[in-house]
Amino acid sequence: MTLNIVVGITGGIAAYKAVGVVRALVLAGHDVHVLPTEGALRFVGKPTLEAISRNPVHTELYEGVAEVRHVAIGQAADLIVIAPATANTIAKMAVGLADDLLGNSLLASEAPVVIAPAMHTEMWRHPATQANIATLEARGVTVVGPAVGQLTGTDSGPGRMEEPEVIVAAALAVAASRSAAQPGDLAGRRVVVTAGGTREPLDPVRFLGNRSSGKQGVAIAEAARARGAEVVLIAANLEVADPNGCEMRPVSSAIELQAAVTEAARGADAVIMAAAVADYRPANVSEQKIKKDASNDGLTIELVRNPDILAGLGHAPHDGTLLVGFAAETEPDDERLLELGRAKRRAKGADVLVVNRVGWTEGFASDDNSVVILGSDDEIVTRLHGTKLSVAGAILDVVASKFAHTTDDRTTKAADPA
Ligand code: PMT
Repeated sequence: MTLNIVVGITGGIAAYKAVGVVRALVLAGHDVHVLPTEGALRFVGKPTLEAISRNPVHTELYEGVAEVRHVAIGQAADLIVIAPATANTIAKMAVGLADDLLGNSLLASEAPVVIAPAMHTEMWRHPATQANIATLEARGVTVVGPAVGQLTGTDSGPGRMEEPEVIVAAALAVAASRSAAQPGDLAGRRVVVTAGGTREPLDPVRFLGNRSSGKQGVAIAEAARARGAEVVLIAANLEVADPNGCEMRPVSSAIELQAAVTEAARGADAVIMAAAVADYRPANVSEQKIKKDASNDGLTIELVRNPDILAGLGHAPHDGTLLVGFAAETEPDDERLLELGRAKRRAKGADVLVVNRVGWTEGFASDDNSVVILGSDDEIVTRLHGTKLSVAGAILDVVASKFAHTTDDRTTKAADPA
């Protein structure tokens, strides 16, 4: 499907890389309209943008008044991508300023908005910028990056604009999940989501844990709620804000998570296990803080297996409850990664499995994610790199389509008694 995409380019050195974003979107078959700010035109020329986008480039608020251009562009957009998004533009968006054509188009549009911030590290970390980003995210804007690396001068750190291919993939995933998401396509469904990482206590002050922040699970819970589902969120030590409108059940250890999931899964239409659950826990939990032993340089901790919660649900009869598991794997080879995912789906008895490539800087705690979604015949349903919200959308598309098939089957059986 050809999308009408507005690409806003704002005044930062990364504007030259925005040409790559425009080009990739045009080559993907979309109708791209570029809105550069005055600042952007100091970094990249209008003829370049017109040639690459294959459309006229408008910059003036008071041109094309007869065609009401200041609202028409935004109203017609299916998707708005702003790359680079400077600290100034982000601040203007947060307060809803409309002092140029881009600001007017943003206010006049109901399309999903994806921004790729680019600025110096200090500007990115400034509390004002962070507050503005939080405001935009709360409004549903998808933020891609910034990446960490060399900046314009000799400094480096977070602030580089993400690479064009990453921005384009995230933007198209957002548009796809928005168009596939029928508002309310999960209405009447009860969805249980687990999020975060379990903590296995060693003593009153220490635990064995993992780096899960809860971002992916919370994104799934939020997206399911937005699509009309009643959502129970089993939250293991979340490092992110609770989503609105979900019933929260906080837990800490794997054993607590098991009790909460087992209870919540009864009568649920889907259980989505995004939490990172410890496979082992300390065999003994000390009542007192474990002291250093002066006579021994090392310390051995005996661990015992935790129950496999997903496998427990998957190998018990679960008619009417769709089980979505994850497989967090560090395997670099694509084929091997899929083999591990397929083996895990079967071992756990999950109906759908999200193979999630993880590593020191991937998957855990980051804002985006790379997944392959496998269906119940081990077939690849979707492959996606994008924000955790767009990954959530893709997972819920699969869940919604499974529900639709079950309903169709039931309707066919009811209509055809033979
Ligand atoms: O929270 P974020 O920072 O956003 O990071 C998201 C994530 C990387 C944690 C998430 O996307 C993810 O991959 N979650 C699954 C982590 C995990 O525990 O993977 P696993 O391959 O070890 O387990 C496979 C599946 O079995 C998972 O669905 C897990 O919830 C479940 N499991 C695991 C162990 C256990 N004892 N019981 C289980 O039910």
